[in-house]
Amino acid sequence: MKIVTFFKLLYNSFVKRDDWSRYYLAEKIFYLIYPKMKISEYGNIYHDDVVFKNYYEKYVGNNFHSYDRKYTLMNILKIVKNLNGHYAECGVFEGATSYLIAEAMLKNEQLFLYDTFEGLSKPSGNDGHYWEKGDLFASEDLVKSRLAKYENIQYRKGYIPDRFDEDSSFKFKFVHVDVDLYQPTRDSIEFFYDHMVPGGIILCDDYGFYSCPGAKKAFDEIIKTKPENIVFFPTGQAFIIKE
Ligand SMILES: C[S@@+](CC[C@H](N)C(=O)[O-])C[C@H]1O[C@@H](n2cnc3c(N)ncnc32)[C@H](O)[C@@H]1O
Repeated sequence: MKIVTFFKLLYNSFVKRDDWSRYYLAEKIFYLIYPKMKISEYGNIYHDDVVFKNYYEKYVGNNFHSYDRKYTLMNILKIVKNLNGHYAECGVFEGATSYLIAEAMLKNEQLFLYDTFEGLSKPSGNDGHYWEKGDLFASEDLVKSRLAKYENIQYRKGYIPDRFDEDSSFKFKFVHVDVDLYQPTRDSIEFFYDHMVPGGIILCDDYGFYSCPGAKKAFDEIIKTKPENIVFFPTGQAFIIKE
């Protein structure tokens, strides 16, 4: 960038407070430090969604690492809205995604929540070195208090897959698998695949992340034996639509 252009950009950013100039300047600085990541188009209206931003700050806080994933999930839920079936989340943590699902639910539908509520189970050799047993601890009481206004939520505290069989008579239209590790991801997808309605969606939150190699391995291993294709988003999420 020419020095004159650079100073013009600085002037427009900080004196005129021109929004595009600030974005463009920030983009240039970002690429100097971390060129591998590609910054998206300026002016995406999703950043103007104040209702979503308020929800996120209340339920997640000021770490925006899952902002795009939660926004994507909130919109994917609209795809299954008119199907008959229930919802499940494997890996609940503090209930931020459970809240989005509960908001999307109709009165005759239920949400089943599976979690140790004691943090991650022990990582296996497929899981790399990022996680340790007990990470991401959040209590069942915290989640229950956050979701207290919803009557149609079933809590299934315990190690996945120990409590799945209790719910084998139900059919599901949306399952969020977000347990970070190989074995519970595999167990979740294996169980719910056979309990999905046609058109139902299994969404894996952890598929694209260096920190969760086991989740991708588990999803790939199971789905390669099935007719569905895995759709991978730049958010890191991946999903299948059950045939
Ligand atoms: C990344 S957090 C879930 C985040 C949540 N889905 C959200 O969007 O806010 C992972 C969760 O998986 C749970 N978990 C990990 N291994 C598990 C296992 N084997 N059985 C049950 N829950 C498990 C942890 O307790 C933790 O709450």
